[in-house]
Amino acid sequence: MNNKLLAVMLITLPFNVMAAALLPGDAENGKKLHDNSSCLGCHTQMTSGKPDMLYTRADHRVTDLGGLISQVGNCNKMQKVGLDENGVNDVVKYLNESFYQFGD
Ligand code: HEC
Repeated sequence: MNNKLLAVMLITLPFNVMAAALLPGDAENGKKLHDNSSCLGCHTQMTSGKPDMLYTRADHRVTDLGGLISQVGNCNKMQKVGLDENGVNDVVKYLNESFYQFGD
């Protein structure tokens, strides 16, 4: 195994093994942030009015907790949603508890 691959594994490992129960954040507040920010609006437009389907479709992109954390961070940043770090944690917790349910 080359060193680069090892380094990538060491960086991503803690996310993959992190128990969902240990996620920081407040799911209830996360739902409010998600629904009241542009997250819901943009996803609703993309899915012709079925935003939850983005998270529940059979071929959804996010396949583990680390992926969920990255995707929420990316959408927040790339789409300029403007959530702070606590807000991102809250939304990750909400989406995991309500849809993805990784790590239970
Ligand atoms: C301006 C549009 C836009 C905004 C705003 C936006 N997203 Fe997204 N989101 C996307 C697109 C595009 C995708 C990729 C869809 C695909 O691959 O089919 C996506 C995908 C996702 C996924 C992955 C779904 C899956 O397939 O598992 C998550 C999770 C997600 N977004 C979370 C968020 C959150 C949380 C916010 C708010 C902080 C947000 N997004 C804001 C456009 C947006």
